Amino acid sequence: MYLLKTTLILAAVKVVYGTLPSAADSHEWRAPTATDVRSPCPGLNTLANHGYLPRSGKNISIPMIMDAALMGFNLGPDLVILAAKLGLLSGNAPTTLDLNALALHGLIEHDASLSRNDFALGDNLNFNETIFSTLANSNPGVDYYNTSSAGLVQQQRLATSLATNPNITNTLKEFVIRSSESAFYLGVMGNPLTGVAPKSFVQIFFREEHMPIAEGWRRPNVTITSEILSPIEDAVAEL
Ligand SMILES: *[C@@H]1O[C@H](CO)[C@@H](O)[C@H](O)[C@H]1NC(C)=O
Ligand SMILES: *[C@@H]1O[C@H](CO)[C@@H](O)[C@H](O)[C@H]1NC(C)=O
Ligand SMILES: *[C@@H]1O[C@H](CO)[C@@H](O)[C@H](O)[C@H]1NC(C)=O
Ligand SMILES: *[C@@H]1O[C@H](CO)[C@@H](O)[C@H](O)[C@H]1NC(C)=O
Ligand SMILES: *[C@@H]1O[C@H](CO)[C@@H](O)[C@H](O)[C@H]1NC(C)=O
Repeated sequence: MYLLKTTLILAAVKVVYGTLPSAADSHEWRAPTATDVRSPCPGLNTLANHGYLPRSGKNISIPMIMDAALMGFNLGPDLVILAAKLGLLSGNAPTTLDLNALALHGLIEHDASLSRNDFALGDNLNFNETIFSTLANSNPGVDYYNTSSAGLVQQQRLATSLATNPNITNTLKEFVIRSSESAFYLGVMGNPLTGVAPKSFVQIFFREEHMPIAEGWRRPNVTITSEILSPIEDAVAEL
């Protein structure tokens, strides 16, 4: 009887946890279905495609984002919390957001993105290979990106937007967001201490929103805090 009870309780626990994506999900990559929603941010989308966030992309709370960033990418809460809180303003629900709502122009979403079009020029939500080609083709001759190539790519993307988008928003806020995003892809896909990231990992991350585990990528072995990432961000921004 005791054993039976234990088994029943364990089964119940399993069912309950089955509804929590990050606790019980096996974290394999799955493409979003037609009803799943995704954001302009490849990092959040990758976390959803691996089930660290709800695969639906809907009804996501701030603690869910912080847990997912830590579990999936070893990104510390201090780096995530401000953007996550801002993200709540993208919709009407008091404590949750839907990933697609983050395309709201001017909240966190910004012009001169590395992989999406400017809002005034087209689709600011979905990946665009033409836009991404600036980053994809950067740092020629070697198989990695680094802070100098990332800084240059940021300048090139901004120059293109300034030349083609009369409605561009380009204040210090957008500059800071863009620089931190550059530091994120270098640190999360590469070495957060040196800011050197294999091109193949970065490209899979942006193009497929897929953790390149099969290609040899591993979750960073240190929790990436703002103290760790600041020098990378500064080096990108100072270029
Ligand atoms: C998400 O929230 C909406 C209301 O904000 C609700 O109607 C819906 O049932 C929720 N979906 C899930 C999967 O919890
Ligand atoms: C761009 O700016 C012009 C002038 O302010 C405005 O009329 C137009 O609606 C804007 N277009 C977009 C797509 O924001
Ligand atoms: C991708 O961006 C380019 C450059 O702005 C644009 O010409 C093209 O139509 C976009 N493609 C899609 C599928 O939106
Ligand atoms: C980045 O890589 C390029 C190409 O190897 C190199 O010229 C440049 O010095 C590197 N930048 C840094 C900061 O190491
Ligand atoms: C942590 O990862 C870096 C590469 O990003 C590697 O150089 C270092 O040796 C690793 N440290 C440990 C303790 O595994």
